[in-house]
Amino acid sequence: MGTTLKVGIIGCGAIAQKLHVPDIHTCGLGELVAFCDVLPAKARALAEQYGTNAKVYADYRELLRDKRVEAVVVALPNVLHGPVTIAAAKAGKHVQVEKPMATSLEEAQRMIDAAKRAGTKLMVNQSQRLFPEHRKAKEVLDSGILGKILHVSAMFGHAGPEHWSPTGKWFFRKKDARFGAMADLGVHKADLVRFLTGKEVAEISAFHDRIEKKNSDVEDNFVSCLKFADGTLGTLSASWTVKGSSAEYTFLHCVNGTLRVSVVPGKPVIANLVNPRCEIVFDPPPPIERYPGSWGIDAGGAFVRAMLGLEKPYCTGEEGMKALAIILAAEKASLTGRRVRVSY
Ligand SMILES: NC(=O)c1ccc[n+]([C@@H]2O[C@H](COP(=O)([O-])OP(=O)(O)OC[C@H]3O[C@@H](n4cnc5c(N)ncnc54)[C@H](O)[C@@H]3O)[C@@H](O)[C@H]2O)c1
Repeated sequence: MGTTLKVGIIGCGAIAQKLHVPDIHTCGLGELVAFCDVLPAKARALAEQYGTNAKVYADYRELLRDKRVEAVVVALPNVLHGPVTIAAAKAGKHVQVEKPMATSLEEAQRMIDAAKRAGTKLMVNQSQRLFPEHRKAKEVLDSGILGKILHVSAMFGHAGPEHWSPTGKWFFRKKDARFGAMADLGVHKADLVRFLTGKEVAEISAFHDRIEKKNSDVEDNFVSCLKFADGTLGTLSASWTVKGSSAEYTFLHCVNGTLRVSVVPGKPVIANLVNPRCEIVFDPPPPIERYPGSWGIDAGGAFVRAMLGLEKPYCTGEEGMKALAIILAAEKASLTGRRVRVSY
């Protein structure tokens, strides 16, 4: 590998357009040399705007045969994450795969094993870890000022994928998506609560249902109760039926006070302490904004730097699999009406 990373994009839809491609293009260390989509016009449009003599493919297997490509981003409907990631590793390519990384734990393990066998790297885009407010919240929790975490509550909801991606009808089909709101949004917070607390979820009970989106065969709402291995309790919820502005927040109630993350507009990280009684408003690190409309998290740059060995991956395959394990246990708990132990 040289001083830059030659990247191929597999799946040129909403997340590739809004996050991966502009991030990689502007990070200074990535070259976008190949784009693939079953709708080649989408791949062509990105190649023309961002490519370095980029090739356009309609079949990902052809992209994987392209010798120039060193690493790929897999930004496809969920059920394709596993097979395409495994094929990419076998072709000797590093991979960043979108969340949820797979549709079963067995498939996630096969992806990890395929990368190990090939000597390639595997990352999962659990992008919530990179948000400035979450990085600051982790720093505050790690500092110990709030003391032991006793109770966690995390929620992610918006009005549904139809407002996000024009080609996103697949989100509503079980055969393409495998899950609905649980894995679209819930897996983000499943990963985030692990990331922030450093604790593992041991047991879970849950409900999931399709309450409003009748043209779909996946759930649009999900609520769950978590019991962490050290006895901490919590809730984790996701919804595609939140009207108005989206609902995205995390509360961490601790021995010395409460940390409120993304609850109060303009004050993304607030600690309320009991002794001395005070409120501390923390400034998160500035967002990384290199182009208009940037999410400010530089997920693409972090991926490129990790593949070049310049920094640690922000979410490995093993970590992505643990977030998936929580969602799968929640689904089982909801379907059986029982508490389910999370198997990692
Ligand atoms: N990490 C995040 O914050 C985040 C945010 C949104 C979406 N996502 C994830 O990203 C993935 C893609 O979501 P999206 O919103 O971009 O969906 P999308 O429908 O906008 O894009 C998917 C693209 O894949 C293409 N495609 C489908 N089958 C293909 C195949 N066999 N070969 C090549 N191309 C194919 C489609 O034509 C489409 O352009 C999903 O897994 C989703 O969960 C992650």
